Order: sequence, then structure tokens, then C-alpha cells
Amino acid sequence: MCGIVGYVGEQQALDVVLGGLRRLEYRGYDSAGVAILDAGSALRVERKAGKLSNLEKEIADLSLRGTLGIGHTRWATHGPPTDRNAHPHVDCAGKVAVVHNGTIENFEVLVRGLEQRGHHRTSDTDTEVVAHLVEERYDGDLAATVRSICKDLEGSFVLVVAHQDEPDLVVAARRNLPLVIGLGEGENFVGSDVTAFIAHTREARAVDQDQVVELRRGGVVVTDLDGQAVEGETYHVDWDTAAAEKGGHEFFMLKEIEEQPAAVRETLGGRMQEDGLLHLDELSMSDEDVRDIEQVIIVACGSSYHSGLVGKYAIERWCRLPVQVEMASEFRYRDPVVGRNTLVIAVSQSGETADTLEAVRHARSQRAKVLAVTNTVGSTISRESDAALYTRGGPEVAVASTKAVMTQITAMYLVGLYLAQVRGTRDADEVRAHLADLHEIPDLVQEVLDRMGPVRKLARELRDEERVLFLGRHVGYPMALEGALKLKELAYIGAEGFPAGEIKHGPIALVEEGTPVVVLAPRHALQAKLVNNVQEVRARGARTIVIATDGDESITPYADTIIRIPDTKSLLTPLLTIVPMQVLSAEIALARGLDIDQPRNLAKSVTVE
Ligand code: AGP
Repeated sequence: MCGIVGYVGEQQALDVVLGGLRRLEYRGYDSAGVAILDAGSALRVERKAGKLSNLEKEIADLSLRGTLGIGHTRWATHGPPTDRNAHPHVDCAGKVAVVHNGTIENFEVLVRGLEQRGHHRTSDTDTEVVAHLVEERYDGDLAATVRSICKDLEGSFVLVVAHQDEPDLVVAARRNLPLVIGLGEGENFVGSDVTAFIAHTREARAVDQDQVVELRRGGVVVTDLDGQAVEGETYHVDWDTAAAEKGGHEFFMLKEIEEQPAAVRETLGGRMQEDGLLHLDELSMSDEDVRDIEQVIIVACGSSYHSGLVGKYAIERWCRLPVQVEMASEFRYRDPVVGRNTLVIAVSQSGETADTLEAVRHARSQRAKVLAVTNTVGSTISRESDAALYTRGGPEVAVASTKAVMTQITAMYLVGLYLAQVRGTRDADEVRAHLADLHEIPDLVQEVLDRMGPVRKLARELRDEERVLFLGRHVGYPMALEGALKLKELAYIGAEGFPAGEIKHGPIALVEEGTPVVVLAPRHALQAKLVNNVQEVRARGARTIVIATDGDESITPYADTIIRIPDTKSLLTPLLTIVPMQVLSAEIALARGLDIDQPRNLAKSVTVE
């Protein structure tokens, strides 16, 4: 959840580190800090509670010169977000600086030992123990010292360490959490993800479990905890710097909503062969593997869980396979029935969500085949799965997910069609027809985006509401959940999504005069039942806001507000109905003066269970 940057090279490290932290701020932002080092000079550490801009103000008049630096933006897990708890943390002598993401679960034991040996803590964090352990064990070889310490740490962590006596070396280590190397010319980088350094280099290398990185100007060495060098694959990051910036919008989220047509095109691109059928080599599954699948379990959290719910409808419809969709945080604790003929699909934008990662590990321990559907190349979940289907949504910086969900749903359709194609539950012409429908979606999404004026006006009318309900049937139900989540996390409104048929089994008691009820009612075989549901809530005073297909007048008489979307196959309608709800939630939050990129209490990637 924190943002981490490490640099050593020829440039002034402060500029590089701050630039990287700015792009990583979405990962967590209740404090920030830097440590800068130059040969022959003392280590300089500056840190400040609050957002990165607070730190930048604090150091504006300081001369923090040096060509080695490490930096951190924090989302607190141990110790309140204060100056003293901000990273980097240092040892007693102030010669060691450490930044850390994760949780050191045995830190109390380590702290007690250190204090008994005369060390004095200056913070409430678990991180600080590492600085004191380095101080205690350092014998002139920082990398060996860090390797030794990692063997004594329990929990999940990424550590980046600098020592005053080695001004050409940054050492980093990871267990369970994301760390990636940026490879430059005469300079090298580490970061929580590639946005930390793509302004300088697009050549990257993932760091695997319990590996230690020795970063020097002249090159990078990666070893295991015993000091044995390990090989690793480098890859080219094709996100350009602009893509990681706001593209002219005030907020990343608005840019990312607008990017959705292009994002879906990227997800679909290059995955069809000349004969118009799908080829998903990245699934690394033989046709026999696919035919042997007896059940599918989708594990995910939050919005990614909602994408998985849509996937369930598609896979069951096209493949006639039983599909369960599980909250990843619940999955392994219910002792699920999983075996070698189970396909587990882990849906995760970041590829670092701890709940989903642990579900992946459990599934693999039960010999299930695991497919990651993720937006992040080289992420832990992708590397610990048997295969990965990348959604290719590009960097999603805003904490609330928009284009990531859109591309996840698209990817779920591709998985469903591919399984149907190989298992023969849909013939080639049917697969081609569904793919043709999917390829129309980017233009249809653009059409919806071009119609959002009335939705922005509606948002201003709803800005003071404290409760909004969302109803949908079939694939509209997961979208009702997603619409409610967006409104919760962006505008802090008490929103709830229900299957429309469920409203009369209790939730209708929430409806009173003027309660806004958003009904997802694209053309569908269940339309008549949805009309009944709209009538039920309207009869009790609800203000009905209906998302309906162009030309469909069946529900018009019962809608106080109609939001029109173009027609498409009913199974694909989530890709269209989701857009007005994203825009509605963002605009209500903006009308409330809220920060839609970094909502309170949330982090982009929840890397603790
Ligand atoms: C999305 O709007 C939410 N911020 C959140 O629910 C998110 O979808 C969830 O934390 C899962 O993240 P992941 O896709 O990176 O695993």
C-alpha cells in the first residue's frame, strides 16, 4: 500500500525520487519522506506527515544534494500517520535509512531484543527495527547484512536500505509484496511499480520472493537470501509517461473513465487469429487442460469481485461449466472443494492484493490450475499463478477502479469464449459472432461517454443525498453492486446494490419519499419483471433513475430520469451500464468537493490481509 522509490546514478537523486513518489502517491498517502546520500557526505533524511506536497514544502529550501536516494509515501499500518512515524527510518547513529512496505509480524520480539542491547526507538513503527538491526550487524557489506536480517523477519515486506558508508549502493528485498527494478544507463532504480521510474527507463525486471537486489550505478545484482545470484527476465514497459499523467484532466479518475474505449480495444487487441477465432496462448493451457476443467472458481475483492460475477454469467452461459465467485478473503477459510480439475481465476488489477494472493496460494496448494486476470505485468499474483491474462488497461492511478473493471469484464468474456471455443460448447460461427459484438463495444462506450451531460446535471441534484439504492437483474446485479461501491468510495454516500427481485424481501423498507433508486434496465428478457420492481419502489416514493436501452419505452412511464445507452447483446450490457454510474458517482463526489483520486481511508492496492 505504500509507495517506494530507490535510485542510484548520475542525476540529483532528490528530483528522481520525488518524481517517482508523485506517481506512486495513490498507493498510500498519510506521510512521505526521503533519504539522500552523496559520497563523503552524511546521510540526509527528511520526512513529513500528510501528503507528498507537505514534504516538498518542508525541504524546498534545503540543499539535499546527492546521487543516491530512497523515498516513501505511506499508508499507515503500524503507528499513527505522524512525522515521527514517516519513513525513512534510521538507526541510532543516523547512518542507516530504511523504507518499507508491508508488516513485520515479529517486530515486537525484535524490538525487545534491540532495546535490551541498548538501541533507542524513535517511532512506533515496525520498520525501524530493520534500521537498528542493520546498525548492529553491518560489517561493511550492506547486501549481506540485509540478507541476514531478512532471514529473521516474519511477515510481508519490501525493504529498501541505504548506508552512509556505501554511497554507491541501494539494497532492496521483497517478500510477498511488489518490487520492480528499473534498468538505466549508468543509473538504476527500484520501485513499488513501474510508474516510479518510467520517466527515466522502460526496461524493467521483476523481483521474486525472498530475493535481494544490489543496485549500483554500474549495474544490478539480484541474489537469493544465501547470496547466490539469480537470473530474472527483463521486460519492456510500454506505458509512456503521459499515460501515467492526467492527460489534461483535473483528476486521474476522469481521465481513466475517458480512456475506457481505448482500454477495451487494448484488451481485445491481438487476441484473434486470422480465422476470426480466439487464441489466448497466454493462458498456457493445452486444449486437453481446458477440456478437463470440471468447475471454475473466481476469486477477487471489491470491484474485481464484481467483474468476476459478470464472468460467472458468461462462462456458465457459453461453457455450461459450474462457476463459483468467491470473496478472496473468505475463500481459503471455508476449506473449499478444489482439485486438479478446478480452474481458479484470480481477478486483480494490481496483482498484489493480499487476500487474492493468499487465495491463489491456497488454490495451488490444492493442485488447481490458477489463471490470473490482471492489469499489472510482473505482479506477484501473475507470477504465482500458472498463467496470466493481462487486461492491458494501462496504468490506473485513481484509487477507485474504472477502466480496470471495464477491461476485467472484457477479459472475462474472452476467457469464457475461449473455454467455449476449445470445449466446443459454442461453434466457431457463434464465437466469431460474440467476438464481433465485443469489438463493437469500444465505439458504444464512447457513445455513452458522449451522452454524460444529463448525468452530470443529475449528480448536482443528488449531491446532498445520504442514501441511494441500485437495482439490477442477471448481469445487471453485479453492476448494481459496482454502482453502489463507486458511490460509497467516492462520495461517501450510504449506497447499496441488490438483485432487483430481492428488493421486496426487506430492502424496500429503506425506500421513502424521494429516495433515489438507480435501476439498470437495458433491454433484456427479464424487462417485464424489472418494470414491476421499478413500480414497487416508485409507489413508495422513490425517485427512479433508469438506465435503459435506446428506443425501449417499456419502462419510461415509471422513470423520473432516463439515461439512455446504445443497444448491445444483453450479456455485454455491463460494459455500457457501468459508465453512467462511474460518471454519476464521480460528479456527485466532485459536487461535494471531494478528492476522487484519493478517497479517504482507501489505498489503491490492499497488500495486507
Ligand atoms: C475499486 O474501486 C476498489 N478501490 C477496490 O475494491 C479494488 O477493486 C479491490 O481492492 C481489488 O483490488 P485489485 O483489483 O487490485 O485486486
